[in-house]
Amino acid sequence: GDNLMYLAHRYDIELEGACEASLACSTCHVYVHNNYFDKLQEPEEEEEDMLDMAVFLKENSRLGCQII
Ligand code: FES
Repeated sequence: GDNLMYLAHRYDIELEGACEASLACSTCHVYVHNNYFDKLQEPEEEEEDMLDMAVFLKENSRLGCQII
């Protein structure tokens, strides 16, 4: 499927995605601009759990592969 991580890859934007969007890593960690953060679907619990393991976690952190 399509998500922000794959979109980034298509446009040669550097963003990892070690687990291929299966919520088993946090290498697709991104910061979402305030203007857009609230427009996104709420993260699933699995994403929250993975985010907790991400480094430099911020209020506007999300996993890129879960942004659709
Ligand atoms: Fe692994 Fe997004 S690519 S959680």
